[in-house]
Amino acid sequence: SLPVPNVQDLANKELKEVPDRYVRREAESEHVAFEMSDHIPVIDLQKLLHHDPCISSHEMAKFHMACKDWGFFQLIDHGVDEELMSRMMSNAEEFFNLPLEEKKAYAQLPQSFQGYGQAFVMSNDQKLEWSDMLSLRTLPVYQRNIRFWPKKPPSFSETLDKYAFAMEKITFCLLSLIAKNLGVEPKKLISIFEDGVQATRMNYYPPCPQPDKVLGLSAHSDASIITLLIQNNDLPGLQIKINGKWVPIKPISGAFIVNIGDAIEIMSNGLYKSVEHRAVIHPDRARISIAGFQDPRSGVLIEPLQELLERENVAAKYKAVNFDEYLRQYFSAKLDGKTMLDLVKVEKNE
Ligand code: SIN
Ligand code: FE2
Repeated sequence: SLPVPNVQDLANKELKEVPDRYVRREAESEHVAFEMSDHIPVIDLQKLLHHDPCISSHEMAKFHMACKDWGFFQLIDHGVDEELMSRMMSNAEEFFNLPLEEKKAYAQLPQSFQGYGQAFVMSNDQKLEWSDMLSLRTLPVYQRNIRFWPKKPPSFSETLDKYAFAMEKITFCLLSLIAKNLGVEPKKLISIFEDGVQATRMNYYPPCPQPDKVLGLSAHSDASIITLLIQNNDLPGLQIKINGKWVPIKPISGAFIVNIGDAIEIMSNGLYKSVEHRAVIHPDRARISIAGFQDPRSGVLIEPLQELLERENVAAKYKAVNFDEYLRQYFSAKLDGKTMLDLVKVEKNE
């Protein structure tokens, strides 16, 4: 990314008007469907795994529908220690509340995605996001770059280490259930994430005096297998695009907001959707979110599952992609809807 101003610092200056570089026409003009916010599926992990087949099959059907029709759901009863989740969040909060000079010790270096700063800034005339982020590769352990892990608060690294493994565990669990719902050999899906890459991104969205003019994060789909997100309060900042309308998500306290990423859309041959989403800003409250991107193992080829194509007797709708190359391209462009995924679609001759 190119160096850009720190947004938290900018927001502290009590501006009356947002600088032009942050003013986004689409933030105002696109339709938001407030009435649909309660419809986001809520999936109970204990029920998915329940020994009573009546309970598990009902929940599995709901889970299948969520991946197919929404690409997003909230995961409850997930078994992750709530104390660990809230400690992770308060550690992130404490980091962002440090003076800018201290945070700068962890600033991104050119050509690196890790550290404190912004991502996806490719040109000097590009519109900017109303947010700052701390991005860290959290798994596999030997790929961590501890230089970017904050030393303040002191418990940050230990907490993030535990939190990373908790997210990894849920990912393995959800992947085996996705395989079951897709009717494919679980090993096929699970193996792409063995020794897989996990990137954890902490987003800080400062309040903004003109919230309708800015975006916290532009519309995009995630490149990941799945993404697990938590946030520090109940502000509905995350919006997902369903039938052309932006639907705000009302977070359930203690739940993970989970979404299907591009890798699963490709592997399921488009049956499961990697849905576009964005983040909007509140006029007087800051919002923090922590997104855990569960990515394939380095070097893995991602393609529609052969087993699925044969059973359904359909042609592959996506080309095989080397995921490292996919990520490289994803991070060398602006965030822009689903353009990356469109590039790997097999063209239709009709
Ligand atoms: C993201 O899409 O990575 C984060 C969205 C959010 O902060 O809710
Ligand atoms: Fe995202």
